[in-house]
Parts: sequence; C-alpha cells; structure tokens
Amino acid sequence: MGTVLQTEVAGIGMKNPVLVCSGTWGNGREYSEWLDPGELGGIITKSVTLKPCAGNRPPRLWETPSGMLNSIGLENRGLEAFLEEELPWLAGFGVPVWVNVAGFSEEEYVQVATEISVSGLAAALELNISCPNVRKGGLRFSESLGDAVRLVARVREKAELPLFVKLSPRTADMKAMCVAMAGAGADGLSLVNTVPAMAIDIERAKPRLGNVTGGLSGPAIHPVAVLAVWEAYQSVDIPIIGMGGIWGWEDAVEMIMAGAGAVGVGTLNFVDPGAPLRIVEGIERFLARKGLARVTELVGLAHRGGFPDRAS
Ligand SMILES: Cc1cc2nc3c(=O)[nH]c(=O)nc-3n(C[C@H](O)[C@H](O)[C@H](O)COP(=O)(O)O)c2cc1C
Repeated sequence: MGTVLQTEVAGIGMKNPVLVCSGTWGNGREYSEWLDPGELGGIITKSVTLKPCAGNRPPRLWETPSGMLNSIGLENRGLEAFLEEELPWLAGFGVPVWVNVAGFSEEEYVQVATEISVSGLAAALELNISCPNVRKGGLRFSESLGDAVRLVARVREKAELPLFVKLSPRTADMKAMCVAMAGAGADGLSLVNTVPAMAIDIERAKPRLGNVTGGLSGPAIHPVAVLAVWEAYQSVDIPIIGMGGIWGWEDAVEMIMAGAGAVGVGTLNFVDPGAPLRIVEGIERFLARKGLARVTELVGLAHRGGFPDRAS
C-alpha cells in the first residue's frame, strides 16, 4: 500500500487511518480469526477498570432502526488480568494499541492509566469519560466541564503516554469542552461515544434494557458524530479520532473530511468482522480516483472549501 495511507496522530505512526473502536472488538481474540489485526491502523481496547467488573443486568442489547442500544456497563476482567494476558497479546501485532481506561473514581482512572503507561506495551491511552452505562463515574465526568478538566489534568500528570479523551456527543457546548480538554493536557480527542438513549417494550410497559437506559450506536448516530468532529476541528489543534456509525468507506472519508486524523469502526464489527480492512481499501481507491497522493490531504478538507467544482 506504500505511503498513501500512512498517517500519524499525536506522534503515533499508523500504516492506515482505520482503527477498531473500544468495546466493539473485544480484545481481538475472536476477530483475529476474521482479519489480520496487524493490517489495522491500530486497535482501541475494551475499557479497562481497576477491578474486574461484571457489567449490567441483561438484557443489554436492543436493535433499533439503523442502530443498536447497549448497556454493557464496562464489563471487563480488570487491570491485572489485562496487563498479564490481553495487552502483551495485542501488542504482538505490531500496530499501535490505545488502551481505553475507565473508572468509578478519579483515583481509579489515575492508577489504571499509570500502570498501563509503565507497562511499555501501549501506544496511547483513551480516557473513557463518556460511558452512559454506569451510575458512578462514566458520563458524569464529561457532563461537567470542571470534573472532566480535573480528571484529565490528574491523569496527564501521572501518565506518560499520549492521552486521548473520549467524549460524549451529549455535551452542552462541544467546542468549549474540546478547548477545555486540550487545555487540561489532552493530546487528542476520540469523538464520539454512544448517545444516551432508551427503548420501551409497550406490551410489557417496561424498558427494553435491564439497566433501563443505554447508549445508541450505529448509522443512526453518524451525522451526530460528524458534527462533533467538525466542531472539534474548528476549536482545537489536537488530532481527532472520529467514530460513530461508520458503515462503509464513504462514512470514513466523510469523517476525515470533517477533521478526523483517524477513524474508528465500531458496531459494524458485529455485523461484518472483515469490514475495517475493506474500509481501508475503499479509502485507498477513493484517493486514487481523486488523484491524491496521501490520505492526510483529506483531513479537514471540507473546512477548506473542498475539491474545486467541476466546470460544467
Ligand atoms: C457493545 C458496545 C460496547 C462498547 N463498549 C465501550 C467501552 O467499553 N468503552 C468505550 O469507551 N466505548 C465503548 N463503546 C462505544 C464505541 O467504542 C463507539 O464509541 C460507539 O459505539 C460509536 O461508534 P459506532 O456507532 O461505530 O459503534 C461500545 C459500543 C458498543 C456498541
């Protein structure tokens, strides 16, 4: 593929701009039977918490028109098992690994981020301050600007790795939030997490999800995510990983034109595990058709007036 697709975000070199999103690819064991993880631009892990976490009561998934509601609730085996078993395996593919860090208190975030940093096996951290599915921590941090700033600054102080902060689209003022995150020391932003949502079974007059509320993902949220990336690109100079409803290479290109330096494929992995690499190929074909030498030329292109209009 040569250098056409090569890119970097926050100093992290990638062979192409396509990543897999946190929590939608497990920690890769099953997916590695469908595609070679070493061909991805990078891998973002499932959220890791300090202690093992059982997650929420079932049912945890509900399909909606053009989307999916989930309330997994940060289920994972905890930091120790992750460091011993998962991270060394993931690092073995030779592509950058973003470890997604979550917590139920500031101290937990700081401890997990610090231990991941010292392991030397991760390329970056993605701080999940926007999970809608936990009562303590999670989304609370990104709904309050002051809490988010304090948390990011504390993690920044301890963790040496590039720090990406993952935000919710449910933020009163996306631009102000992005500026505040950059000011607190974020090296990059991941946009967006799922959109808080719910569904009710009318025959039972009860919520569909055991947790009552969940997060909406998939094509239904794609335009919401494009706007978030667009606004972030206008307000800060740090790189953005764009995610939310990417369902084909066209959506990935759109996200890059809105300002994303890299993109994450999420819910689509459940439907079509080979999709991330086909998206890579689609981006490459698009670049050739448009006569562009590098994918980096597309980043934020829609902010700069786009391609010249064809003479009619
Ligand atoms: C089943 C499921 C589990 C997820 N788990 C996590 C998680 O552990 N941590 C996190 O930061 N985001 C998590 N997400 C959010 C995704 O990483 C992504 O931000 C979101 O789904 C939007 O992208 P998509 O529409 O392409 O799925 C999860 C999403 C889904 C659907």
